[in-house]
Amino acid sequence: MPHTKKMLQPNALKGKTIVITGGGSGLGKSMTKYFMELGAKVAITSRNLDKLKTTATALETETGGMCLPVQCDVRNYNEVEAMHKTIIDAYGTIDILLNNAAGNFISPTERLSANAFDTIIDIVLKGTKNCTLAFGKHWIDTKQSNGTVLNIVTTYAWTGSAYVVPSAAAKAGVLAMTRSLAVEWAKYGMRFNAIAPGPFPTKGAWDRLLPGNLKDKFDMAKKVPLKRVGEHQELANLAAYLVSDFSAYINGEVITIDGGEWLKGAGEFNLLEDIPKEMWDQLEAKIRSSKK
Ligand code: HXC
Ligand code: NAP
Repeated sequence: MPHTKKMLQPNALKGKTIVITGGGSGLGKSMTKYFMELGAKVAITSRNLDKLKTTATALETETGGMCLPVQCDVRNYNEVEAMHKTIIDAYGTIDILLNNAAGNFISPTERLSANAFDTIIDIVLKGTKNCTLAFGKHWIDTKQSNGTVLNIVTTYAWTGSAYVVPSAAAKAGVLAMTRSLAVEWAKYGMRFNAIAPGPFPTKGAWDRLLPGNLKDKFDMAKKVPLKRVGEHQELANLAAYLVSDFSAYINGEVITIDGGEWLKGAGEFNLLEDIPKEMWDQLEAKIRSSKK
């Protein structure tokens, strides 16, 4: 069975309403498409309404589902509340929030202005907080007991990473919020989980993280033990499972989907991978002889 195959049974998300921030492009768009194929009604939000409308029309044509485009800059709480109201007015209820919107670019930290640092923190951490707070308060006030939040972080949320420090700090905050609210708001029936993707090529990420010929210089697949980057459908499969009722007992979890990439960087002796097979006879002999 190929890893790009669609995983869940048809209609697995029928009856669910899902809001995807940053759903007009990249991974957000791929996850949105699969949610629609599984029967969910969706709303996609971001700053660029034209892009959202184009995506919504294309996805409705491709899947036969419903996709509402709503403009919203997640950095602004008033805009988030207005976006939430627009979607409630249109659909009646919301069951699932996917915090996927993000901002990021590579830079030596000393080159960043205070505003540049704030911009990333504001989109990633404050944006996730704004949406989570607005949606969570509504679920509590209306006694809706199936609210589900899925946050997209990345593996450097726990390792940290040079040259993307604002993003690392913000994603770490999102991870802490995921785990904290998984416990605190479980009493209202809400679940909070996160996905930590490794490299999944998208225009948004690659233009900012591997600009120019960096794409050719740093082949991301080489950093991954499985020697390939991720396919969007693999991520969509995991996201659909985590927002579906099949994962009803999973709460407070972060699932890594990176082909083993971050562990390769972490294990002390993982670099021995570079030793050719033939050399192991000599090395073994040397080690054994050291006993004498
Ligand atoms: C230094 C920079 C900069 C750069 C912008 N700034 N780009 N500083 N190097 N390359 C500074 C600006 O000068 C300004 O500071 C401040 O950052 C805000 O910039 P604006 O352009 O005014 O901000 P805005 O229009 O809000 O755009 C936000 C953005 C942009 C983050 C800068 O790239 C964007 O819209 N990104 C959204 C999509 C995105 O980033 N996708 C990738 C996600 S990938 P001053 O002081 O001059 O005012 C991801 C993957 C993680 O998260 C893991 C991968 C494995
Ligand atoms: P992307 O296409 O650039 O997606 C980012 C989305 O966020 C865009 O649709 C953008 O839309 C939206 N956005 C940015 N600022 C916003 C704001 N202030 N308010 C509302 N929406 C905003 O990049 P991607 O690769 O698909 O990234 C999606 C998610 O995956 C992010 O959380 C990212 O950190 C995570 N991730 C990606 C990778 C990867 O390899 N691609 C790896 C790990 C984690 P507008 O510009 O229209 O606002």
